[in-house]
Amino acid sequence: MNPFKYGRVVSKDDFCSRSGLARMLHRHTLSGQNVVILGERRTGKTSLIWNTCHRHKKHKLLYVDLLEVKTIEDIVRRMVNALSTFEKRMGAFQKILRALIHLKPKITLDPMTGEPSLSIDAITHAKPDSIEKMLDFFSVLSKKTKLIVVFDEFQDILNLNESAYVLACLRGKIQFHSKIPYIFSGSVRHRMDEIFFHHDSPFFKAAIPLTVGPIEDHVFKNFLKNKFSLGNRNIDDAVLTKIFEMAEHNPGDVQQLCSAIWEVSNQGQHLSEEILPQAMQVVFSHESKTYESLLIPVTGIQMKCLVGLASHPVLPPLSSEFARLTGISGPASVKKSLLRLEQIKIIYRTPKGYKFANPYFKHWLLYKRY
Ligand SMILES: Nc1ncnc2c1ncn2[C@@H]1O[C@H](COP(=O)(O)OP(=O)(O)O)[C@@H](O)[C@H]1O
Ligand SMILES: [Mg+2]
Repeated sequence: MNPFKYGRVVSKDDFCSRSGLARMLHRHTLSGQNVVILGERRTGKTSLIWNTCHRHKKHKLLYVDLLEVKTIEDIVRRMVNALSTFEKRMGAFQKILRALIHLKPKITLDPMTGEPSLSIDAITHAKPDSIEKMLDFFSVLSKKTKLIVVFDEFQDILNLNESAYVLACLRGKIQFHSKIPYIFSGSVRHRMDEIFFHHDSPFFKAAIPLTVGPIEDHVFKNFLKNKFSLGNRNIDDAVLTKIFEMAEHNPGDVQQLCSAIWEVSNQGQHLSEEILPQAMQVVFSHESKTYESLLIPVTGIQMKCLVGLASHPVLPPLSSEFARLTGISGPASVKKSLLRLEQIKIIYRTPKGYKFANPYFKHWLLYKRY
């Protein structure tokens, strides 16, 4: 079986230990501190949280995923969801039901597993104070069970029209929950900065920052070599170095390429650099539909700009040279295109310049000679 896992939370043998980060997160949460976890997508924030928090034997994890939330009802529903995965006992559900009566909750039984789950009526109009009531309920729960509450992809709260009000409500409650460590995790750096590092945000200085970057190369290399050796494959160190470079050291993307290498190789094979083009073909064949759909809203000028970014990675995109080489009329047009490409999430800004959200998409653009 292919030992490389990507696109989901990894745990147990699939989780490469990140002892430094895990220790810090463990220490902060144990002392009841709130933590804000920052890091690009697929760097392993969620996996780190799950693996670390499950080591707290006495704590239970209440995990609220806020990815793409759009409304207050959405947030409340996800908080309810977190409760229902957290608590499977019927008796406890009855209590939750009573506490959430204003949201007209319902219990349904999964026909396959017989497990109860809690839902709220889709048409219930939750108000911001429903979020406060949910947090009050977390606080009540925490008197009996030690809790760690996680809000993942927290920056997406900014999608809401009422985001300022919701953030103020959240902060207002959370600051009194001194016994509950809250973890706020987010992938979109400038939006997380807006929430946690702007003086006028209610969350300013509300949590200790922890940055999740790439896994240290030598640690991750050993982990990956072991995985290859499970299938009696031996991989050159130089190939791993090349993979890290192509994946820009992103753990999820590294695992995706390793998985493709596994697919195109056999037991007993020695893996050298020649395997890479074949493996990239596998990645492209899995992803080409996604890549093509990413390009649907892209105009001609934006496309020139994208190809320019892929072909001239070190050239400042707002230079006249970049405009000349890409055939765009001037830096002002480039700037407009960059803004749009960022809005549709194909690229994103970092302190070091623009990056492709998916590094293999960049390779695909060059391969297709767009
Ligand atoms: N500690 C780790 N060990 C091995 N692979 C990891 C680790 N952390 C992340 N990954 C890889 O990255 C992918 C995304 O991890 P995830 O935790 O969902 O990232 P994030 O929450 O930052 O988006 C995983 O499916 C896995 O391929
Ligand atoms: Mg995540």
